[in-house]
Amino acid sequence: MKFFIDTANLDQIEEAQSLGILDGVTTNPSLMAKEGITGQKNIIDHYLKICDIVDGDVSAEVISVDYDGIVKEGEELASLHKQIVIKVPMIEEGVKAIRYFSDKGLKTNCTLIFSSGQALLAAKAGATYVSPFIGRLDDISTDGLDLISDIRDIYDNYAYETEILAASIRHTMHIIDCAKIGADVITSPLSAIKGLLKHPLTDIGLEKFLSDHKKGS
Ligand code: G3P
Repeated sequence: MKFFIDTANLDQIEEAQSLGILDGVTTNPSLMAKEGITGQKNIIDHYLKICDIVDGDVSAEVISVDYDGIVKEGEELASLHKQIVIKVPMIEEGVKAIRYFSDKGLKTNCTLIFSSGQALLAAKAGATYVSPFIGRLDDISTDGLDLISDIRDIYDNYAYETEILAASIRHTMHIIDCAKIGADVITSPLSAIKGLLKHPLTDIGLEKFLSDHKKGS
């Protein structure tokens, strides 16, 4: 399973990269705004800084919602750096644009996926990734993990190459559950990734090893 970090915070991206487990980064307009990155030039510079830190795919989201606008913006984003993946919303114009990008060999991430039907359509259009938002489904009392499982079944039935990028991850157990179901990628806050490190028996065991070593020396 690939690990992406879901943030535009450069310190957190660097920290995840230094762990040696990072495969890519996802951003969205809200995450950029949270870091105070506004204005087209600053946003573009920020994507380039992220690409300098990591080796893998970096999702950059379009703001346009019409076909011509999405295509223009997406091509500009893709031309910035070979690691850029064009993030396109799951709307009718977006699906058309994903088909266009796919035919041109450009990578896409179809975002704001909340149903298996949307994921099926994105795969048909040739999306590289689909981003089902599991946390936001959980927020409205609908099990987000069921959606990951349904998409996995559908994609396996037809050997779709589109990768399931589980997004809107809220905690460490979401990552483990996505791995059990067979999501191809998770994109997560750093805190949930670091939660995978923790077990009290590890801490107790290490403390004992170190104190026993001290006694013997
Ligand atoms: O980047 C898309 C997605 O991961 C957003 O997550 O926490 O805003 O629902 P969240």
